[in-house]
Amino acid sequence: MRGMLVPSAHGEALLRKAIYPGSFDPVTMGHWDIIQRAHRLVDHLVVAVLHNPSKHPTFSVAERVDFLRELVAPYPTVEVKTFHGLLVDFAKEEGAHSIIRGVRAFSDFEYEFQMALTNRKLSPDIETVFLMPKEEHSVTSSRIVREVGMMGGDITGMVPEALRERITARLRNPANYA
Ligand code: PNS
Repeated sequence: MRGMLVPSAHGEALLRKAIYPGSFDPVTMGHWDIIQRAHRLVDHLVVAVLHNPSKHPTFSVAERVDFLRELVAPYPTVEVKTFHGLLVDFAKEEGAHSIIRGVRAFSDFEYEFQMALTNRKLSPDIETVFLMPKEEHSVTSSRIVREVGMMGGDITGMVPEALRERITARLRNPANYA
């Protein structure tokens, strides 16, 4: 029927494969929470690290990817890749029809709404799905982790425990910055 939304143009459920994109500079407990939630919903999840040198990230792409790969190692249906250029182009290359994003608070909404509708305009076949992390992670962001860590504060509970010491050491020693 014309105009009717079908499961997908391909007749497959949209959440068969999804992209979870971000800067992950560095990965936080909020990101990790979303990855675990998405893993339960999606057959194949691609965590996609933005490779955009003009954003001047604190952690190199290699470091960000290594941290994420270490976390997802026990999950065979989750992989970590990098992308540059438009997210929807990467999703198409990957054969994914959905994008996962986390929303922590109302303050995230405007940016996420703008991004989701822009992506929909660019590629109407790709759906954005929003997930909420546990409320205890709702005030954590990569920017806060970087700021607290660089000023010598304790980032326990803000980043996955297995990575805490390495992230702390990197942030406390500016000479190590990528
Ligand atoms: O973790 P972030 O920094 O909020 O993630 C933002 C990201 C990487 C998802 C976004 O910047 C992005 O998709 N960049 C790729 C360029 C693109 O597709 N832009 C059009 C949509 S706004």
